[in-house]
Order: sequence, then structure tokens, then C-alpha cells
Amino acid sequence: MTRPTVYIETYGCQMNVSDSELMYGRLAEHGYDPVDGPDGADVIIVNTCAIRDHAEQRVVGRLGELKRHMKPGTVLGVAGCMAQRLGPTLLAKARHVSLVVGPDGYRALPQLLDGARQGERTTATSFDLEEHYEDFAPRRFADVKAWIPVQRGCDYRCTYCIVPYTRGAERSRRLPDVVREAEQVVAGGMSEVVLLGQTVNSYHDGAHDFADLLHAVGAVAGIRRIRFTSPHPNDFSDRVIAAMAGVPQVCEHVHLPMQSGSTRVLRRMLRRYSREDYVACVRRLRAAVPTLNLTTDIIVGFPGETETDFAETLSLVEEIGYEDAYTFKFSPREGTPATRMDPATFVPDEVASERLERLIAVVRRGARERNLRLLGTRHEVLVEKAARRGELLQARTRDFKTVMVPADRVRVGGYYLVELTGTTGSTFTGAVRGEAPPVPPGRADAAAALAASAAASAPVTLPVLAPLPAPAVAAPSRGGRTLPLAAAGG
Ligand code: SAH
Ligand code: SF4
Ligand code: F3S
Repeated sequence: MTRPTVYIETYGCQMNVSDSELMYGRLAEHGYDPVDGPDGADVIIVNTCAIRDHAEQRVVGRLGELKRHMKPGTVLGVAGCMAQRLGPTLLAKARHVSLVVGPDGYRALPQLLDGARQGERTTATSFDLEEHYEDFAPRRFADVKAWIPVQRGCDYRCTYCIVPYTRGAERSRRLPDVVREAEQVVAGGMSEVVLLGQTVNSYHDGAHDFADLLHAVGAVAGIRRIRFTSPHPNDFSDRVIAAMAGVPQVCEHVHLPMQSGSTRVLRRMLRRYSREDYVACVRRLRAAVPTLNLTTDIIVGFPGETETDFAETLSLVEEIGYEDAYTFKFSPREGTPATRMDPATFVPDEVASERLERLIAVVRRGARERNLRLLGTRHEVLVEKAARRGELLQARTRDFKTVMVPADRVRVGGYYLVELTGTTGSTFTGAVRGEAPPVPPGRADAAAALAASAAASAPVTLPVLAPLPAPAVAAPSRGGRTLPLAAAGG
């Protein structure tokens, strides 16, 4: 008998990508063959996001479209945060969907699909605070960097956010389990890990905090780069910051969601920090890791946001100097506290759209200015994958800059020293100047070596810059349907 095939389509954040990897792994162990497209698949699963209304509308549209790709007998399942949020109403609304399963229900997936293939229609949306899918072998999408979930759920209650309702309470995996997974990642030929959690730096497994985790993962032989997303400003203890500075594998980039530059708005968002607290957090991070790059998430048009509040957001963006920002218009999510705020305080859509455009322009201008100053400098890059233009490969610096490098000079998975020769304002082109040293040097050594090599490099001819695209209404996507944790789709 031929093995049934399964296709999983993923929306939302890296947590969802990681969950899809776990689902593929689980189903492969239970006799399914993963396939790359929906046509002819025996099982199609859409792993969904609920963070903004737009994210859900895209999934609704896609579910309609998928009807055309289903053959008689194909089972269509909806997983993830929208599945958790809507539960049985999804089954009632979409007759061609036969399974609705939330983020804590993937262990039972093979059995649920058996039932569905026999005509049952089921919803499985209970939370399970013990569930970390420890015994699942993820089938990873990327072959250079590995996403490792270290925490599920969220205990913050930001008033705009649906995540605590779709993913339940915060819980951390045990440190030895994370270390074991990092060792498996190395055994699989990868050298970069991205530790995932909604407030990842609040990680605590009962015996170890996030600082312990960074040290432990850094001690795994073969791990050369460690990233994590997304941290919360309130959870950067001195210990965590010291570990970032002290573990050489921890990369010099932090995605630190700001949400707003106005203390008044932050209070209404229940972010639990003020503008001054946020600035102080950035100062502590930069004091410990001077070459640190920052990116962020910002919401505009939160209920009650005045022009003065928005001006404070713009000024904080300038003050911090972000390399990039994911920017969103506030989207009311049913059941969250923000929806119960006085309707008179709601910001009209035209006002929010106009603020978003201004914000994007300020973010882009700052990024472009900083990127221009980097031309001629040298960086270690890890080559990640083919770029859209065939003759180039896409690589990343430790501080998260995207660099296009000539495909004939490098291989995916390799580390090289490149000189930045051109920029579009957001991404770079680079010339290969040699292999990067095989072991990550200490940060001070690395900075000194790079400064020396930059000084030694030939004078730079400034490239002709491509014109910046018109401000988009939504945040720039990094391609595909998924974005880093802190910048989920929609
Ligand atoms: N746990 C992460 C965020 C996950 S959600 C953190 O706290 O940083 C990713 C981003 O989506 C958030 O940072 C926020 O900027 C945005 N977001 C969340 N809910 C939203 C809403 N209702 N409307 C608009 N943007 C929202
Ligand atoms: Fe939790 Fe982040 Fe949502 Fe706040 S924005 S509730 S920290 S997931
Ligand atoms: Fe869920 Fe991630 Fe979206 S946690 S709501 S898939 S942002």
C-alpha cells in the first residue's frame, strides 16, 4: 500500500514554523510522506495565525482556494492559533474542513487524521501545560539554522494581544532537553540555533534561567551562532545580559519589541515598562555588547494614541536607531482587553494608515543612513540559501544584516569573510575576502580583527543605490508567509 501524503502550509510566526516541523516529523513517523504542494495530497494542514484580523482573513481566503486542490478523500485540517481561537465555529463555517487542532494538540494528530479520513469531523483545542513534544523528531525546513522552541505560551497580558488566549500559559522546556536538541542540530550538520519563546528571556525551567540556557547551548560543540526571539524588555536581568556578553556564540543582534514610544500608550497596552525603562534597557544591553544591532515591533493607532503619543514613537525610533522595524496598525482582537476600551478613543483607520506610512519612512531613512556607513567594512557571514536572483546566495552577518554573495565563490552552510560593497538601503551585496576562521573568536578579538581588516581594505566606490520602494502599508516581509516570532504575518 502506498503511504499517504501530507502537505502543511504555515502562516504566522517562527513558533508556528517550528510547530509545523514537529507535525511533519510526527506524521512521517506515523507513515506519512511529506509533499511540497497541496495538489493530490491525502492530508492538507493549514497552520494558522490569529495575531491580526488580516492574518485570519488570508487564511479564510486560502481555505476557500484549497478546495480546488483537494481530490475526493483529501482531509483538510486547520491547526495553530486561529484554530485554537475559533474552535468548532471553524468546522461549522467551512464544511470542507474536517479537523481543527490547537497548538497543544499535535501529539494526537495521527489518530485525529485517522478519524478524519474515515469521515469524522473533530475539534481538539484543549491546553496541555505539560506538552513540549519532547519525543517528536522535527523535520526541519532550513538546513543551515535550526529553530528550537524553549518556551511555549505567554504570561504577559498585553491588552492588544491574542497570544495568551491561543497558546495558553508560559512554560519552559527543561534545559537538558534543549541542550540535547542543540546537539542533534549539530549532528545534522547545522551550526546556528534560534531559541524561540514569546518572552524567551523569561525562560525558567525551575532550576535554570535564560542565562544558564545561553551558557549551556554555547557549550555545545559545533554551535557557532546563537540567536533568540523575542525577548521582553523587563526580562533582561543582569545575569542574562552578562551571558549575552560572555558567550561568544550569542550574536550581536536583539529583536526588542518597543510597541510605542509613549509611556501613556505603553501603560494602556499593559507592556509593564515606560519609555524611560525601555531606553534604560537598551543602554544596559549596549554597554555590555557595544556592537549590538536592534530591530523592533511597533503598533500604531492603539486606542487613545494621540498625535503627541505618535510623535514620541517617532522620536524613540530615531533615538534608538533600529536597523529595521516591523510596523503594524492596531487590529482589535475579540476577547482582548483593548476591545473593551472606550470606543471614542479608537483611532480612525485613515489616521492610523497615515501614521504607519510616516513611521515606515522614518525607519527606512534611519536604516539606509546606517547601512550606507557600513559600506567597505568586513563581516563574517553564514551563507543561508539561494537568493531570488539565481547567481547570488543569501548570507547573514552575526548582527543580522542580509548580504547577497556570488554563488560561485561560496557554499550554503559555509562561513566567509565578506566586504560590503553595495546596499539597496536595507540589504547588501558583498565581495568574498576569504573563509572566516573555524572557531568563533571572543567578541573583543572579533571586533579588533574586523576593524583591522576594514582599515586594510581598498577605498570604497559607492554603488548606485536602487530607489527605495514606496512605503508599504504593512511591514516588510522577509519573504514567504512567515516572519520572525516578533513580527508574525498579517
Ligand atoms: N511575544 C512577542 C510578540 C508576538 S506578536 C513580544 O511580546 O514581543 C508579534 C507582534 O505583533 C507584536 O510585537 C506586536 O507588535 C504585534 N501585534 C500583536 N497583537 C497585535 C494587534 N492586536 N494589532 C496589531 N499588532 C499586533
Ligand atoms: Fe505575550 Fe508578546 Fe502578546 Fe505581550 S505581545 S501578550 S508579551 S505574546
Ligand atoms: Fe500564534 Fe504566532 Fe500568530 S503565536 S497568533 S502564530 S504570531
